[in-house]
Formats: sequence, C-alpha cells, structure tokens
Amino acid sequence: MTKGELIYNGKSKSIYKIEGEQHHVIQTFKDDVTAFNGEKHEEIPNKGYFCNQISASIFRYLEAKGIKTHFVLPYSGYEMIVKKLEMIPIEVVVRNVAAGSLTRRLGLERGKKIVFVATGSDPNTHIQEVPIVEYYYKNDELGDPLINDNHILTFGLADQSTLYSINHLARHINTFLKEYFKNINLILVDFKLEFGKDKKSDIILADDINPEGCRLWDMDTNVSYDKDLFRTGDGDFGLALEEVYKKINFSSIP
Ligand code: ADP
Ligand code: TMP
Ligand code: ASP
Repeated sequence: MTKGELIYNGKSKSIYKIEGEQHHVIQTFKDDVTAFNGEKHEEIPNKGYFCNQISASIFRYLEAKGIKTHFVLPYSGYEMIVKKLEMIPIEVVVRNVAAGSLTRRLGLERGKKIVFVATGSDPNTHIQEVPIVEYYYKNDELGDPLINDNHILTFGLADQSTLYSINHLARHINTFLKEYFKNINLILVDFKLEFGKDKKSDIILADDINPEGCRLWDMDTNVSYDKDLFRTGDGDFGLALEEVYKKINFSSIP
C-alpha cells in the first residue's frame, strides 16, 4: 500500500489517501500537542508514536469486545490504516468522575465520583455508578460548544436512531475501557469519542483513544497520566504517555 496525498491536516493528526484505494485512509499521529483550541502549542518527541500505539491497542481490545472500530492495520510506528468514514460532527464525552469543564460549569468538587441515586429509595442502598454522556458540536471556530439531543436533532447533526446508537455505544465502550485501564491501575475519569459512518451506514468508532483525549488517574495516588499535565504545565505529558504505553505492553491486556 502506498501513501497518497494529504486529505486533512488536523491539530494532532493528519489523514492521507492510499493510492488506488477508495475505502481506507492512513491516519498519522503528530508530535504536536495543543490545548485550549490550539492556543497552547508544543511538540513532544515521540508523542505521535505513543498515541498511535496506545490507540491501536485499545481499538484491538474493543474489537475483541464486539465494538466496530475504524482500525484496520498498523502502517508505521506513527500511522495506522483505518476505514474511511463520513464523520459525525459530534464529540461524545463520557464522564465517570467530575473533572475539567464539568467541575467549572457546575461548581463541582474535582474527583467527585459520578453516581446516580435512585429517587424514592434509601440512598444508601440504591447508589449506582451511571456515567454522564455529553455532546459537543465539533466546530473549532465555535470552540466545540456543548449541545444536547435537541440541538443535534434540530440542526441535523445526527438522526434519532444514530443518536441512540452513539449513546448506547459510548456507554458500552466506557464499561470496557474502565476495565482495560483498571488492569493497569488507572481510573478512567473521562474521555472523548468520535464516530463515523461507513459505506453501509454502519456506525463505527473512529479517531483515536489515548491519554490525549482521556483523563487517567493513578488508582492509589490520583496522579494524572494524561494531557492535563500539558494543559496545566504541572508535569511531563511525554513521560506520562511513555509510562501508559509501558504499562499496557507489560500487562496482561490482550
Ligand atoms: P482536529 O480536526 O480537531 O484538528 P485531529 O488533529 O485529531 O483533530 O484530526 C483528525 C481528523 O480526522 C478529525 O477531524 C477526525 O474527525 C477525522 N477522522 C478520524 N477518523 C476518521 C476516519 N476514519 N475517516 C475520516 N476522518 C476521520
Ligand atoms: P473537558 O473536561 O475539558 O470537557 O474534557 C472532557 C474529556 O474530553 C477529557 O478527557 C479530554 C477530552 N477532550 C478532548 O479530547 N478534546 C477536546 O477538545 C476537549 C475539550 C476535551
Ligand atoms: N483538543 C483541544 C485542542 O487541541 C482542546 C483540549 O484538548 O484542551 O486545543
């Protein structure tokens, strides 16, 4: 397979054509790291390599759990061959623990576990962990604003059945990923997903999953192993990526 022309140059990844191929593309992970909608920008050596490797491991794991992902094959250390999709312009965020914009928006204490207390029952016996699923309109010019089901349907970002499937898939993926990270002693605090449609209109998990688009905290110390280290400047995001990569490779995760 020969890498063709650049189709899309994003903030942290690029998409390339494959010569003579219609239905697959190459997703290249960059060493560039940005935050606050591109306002803060640096390059971290090997960041693209670690993000590609971690994403590939997670996509393989999710495929084994029955989740359809766009991952097909590794192409190089920094690149993977993926199914070319028509992307749904929604960023789906799943939250298990209060952090980031949720704490700012609702004045919540950082680190508070997200639990659902069944109404009308004894709160001590009916507390369940129910993740919060949020939607953001994928639009850099508008700073990816928070939206709800109503906005999505009214403005035609997705139809009812697509939205239902996305919500359902996001919750399943969360269950699997919590388990994946628990194996390497990390709490999955929150994460962002993107979905696309293939030529049969099946909904496929796309983009990437790695510590750039997740919050991961050490189970014993609550220390961050994710892009918050870069956002706040309080730690070495490159080192954290390498550590997550090593934890995955030296664990029993398939
Ligand atoms: P951004 O667009 O926010 O700068 P990236 O740097 O991550 O983000 O660029 C990758 C782009 O590729 C994203 O816009 C994402 O929606 C898109 N993308 C991810 N997976 C696929 C796919 N399988 N087919 C087509 N586009 C994809
Ligand atoms: P937030 O708390 O800043 O809204 O972020 C929630 C999760 O989504 C967090 O794990 C980081 C991820 N995320 C992205 O992947 N891309 C983004 O542009 C933003 C704002 C968050
Ligand atoms: N992904 C956004 C950016 O690259 C924002 C963030 O992750 O903080 O600027």
